[in-house]
Amino acid sequence: MEKGKVDALLGIVFGDEGKGKVVDFFTPRYDVVARFAGGPNAGHTIIFGGKKFVLRSIPSGIFNDGALNVIGNGCVIAPDLFMQEAQELEAAGYTLTDRLHISRRAHLILPTHRLLDRAYEAAKGKDKVGTTGKGIGPTYSDKATRVGLRVGDILENFPEKYARLKARHEQILRDLGFTDYDIAGEEARWMQGVEYMKQFPLTDTEVEINRLLAEGKSVLAEGAQGSLLDIDHGTYPFVSSSSTTVGGVCTGLGVAPQRIGHVYGIFKAYSTRVGSGPFPVELFDETGDRLRDIGHEYGAVTGRNRRCGWIDLVALKYAIMINGVTDLVMMKSDVLDTFASIRVCTAYRKGGEVTDTMPYDTEGWEAVYEELPGWQTPLTALRDEADFPAPFRAYIDYLERELQTPIKIVSVSPDREATILR
Ligand code: IMP
Repeated sequence: MEKGKVDALLGIVFGDEGKGKVVDFFTPRYDVVARFAGGPNAGHTIIFGGKKFVLRSIPSGIFNDGALNVIGNGCVIAPDLFMQEAQELEAAGYTLTDRLHISRRAHLILPTHRLLDRAYEAAKGKDKVGTTGKGIGPTYSDKATRVGLRVGDILENFPEKYARLKARHEQILRDLGFTDYDIAGEEARWMQGVEYMKQFPLTDTEVEINRLLAEGKSVLAEGAQGSLLDIDHGTYPFVSSSSTTVGGVCTGLGVAPQRIGHVYGIFKAYSTRVGSGPFPVELFDETGDRLRDIGHEYGAVTGRNRRCGWIDLVALKYAIMINGVTDLVMMKSDVLDTFASIRVCTAYRKGGEVTDTMPYDTEGWEAVYEELPGWQTPLTALRDEADFPAPFRAYIDYLERELQTPIKIVSVSPDREATILR
């Protein structure tokens, strides 16, 4: 952490890297914690004070008294879900209103955006993306089409603006033959959410953040989703609709590139993916089931089974390059404790072609593996690197050598003390 800088904490594969576990290590060090992209498609599970919370839109700094929390202009926000999330935190004793600022430039997810999400998915048939159904894609589409509603819109002539956009959506839904819905109840709750939001400072957060940086304050940009779900750099079209990589920090918060300090890249000791799309390391066998069971790989937002496989160096190298990752954070190492040997995907093969760089179209590629010995001993009680079993140390050394980036933090159990700094 450096004064006057923005550090980024990014999941660098397909999301669900376990950011929630390390945020209580990271967030107390920063004056500001900011979300820069995405919306309620994210689900950071955080255990705080012995209670479990799933944060969707609200930054994790909300648990630290001192921190200012910001929902930046690059985010999309669903007022009803935001209200529910905020009220759960308030019921647990956290005060929010003076510590959570929302960008006036962030876009609003309407109930009809969620219908459009479902309608577009249904229309895609077997090519569906497997979205979270939260209306993310349609909201960012409206932003790009320049018809979207922003948070600042709720303060002036909102009913008319809302009615206009809703009518536009209803027309598209009719064109798609998607007419069997009733959103009256949902809409009423959404409008309550709009009113609820008005008690929060709805500000020009980019100006605030830059002022605080100029005063020497530190900012943590808290990522959501993962680098391979980035609209530009992910496995398009099986991606989310925002810039989840470090470039998204600059546009999604309004900070200049030279303000970026450390880029922490979080990954798991193995791979997972939710939703459709290419995933060359996916295991359909008993090993995949074992990784899922031991790692509890079920989605925080949708509850869906996550697809599982061995670690993928092709994907990691690409994400490290795109993000300029300075420090790696390896999560859930203990999930591999019982495996006699551990595989590492070092390249992809299609027909006679082998590549170790991310191909344009990752469909149809199969993983090429190297095999390393497993440690077959529980890591969970370890708190000191000196006690790591030799094969685990060798796994870390191997990854650092291949990825050319230091692994600065290793997590060996869900306990917060089991976050080992190196
Ligand atoms: P959307 O973001 O709801 O449009 O979903 C697009 C794709 O991103 C789908 O494959 C989702 O499963 C995936 N996705 C979106 N948010 C997350 C996340 O926070 N973690 C993991 N996958 C996500």
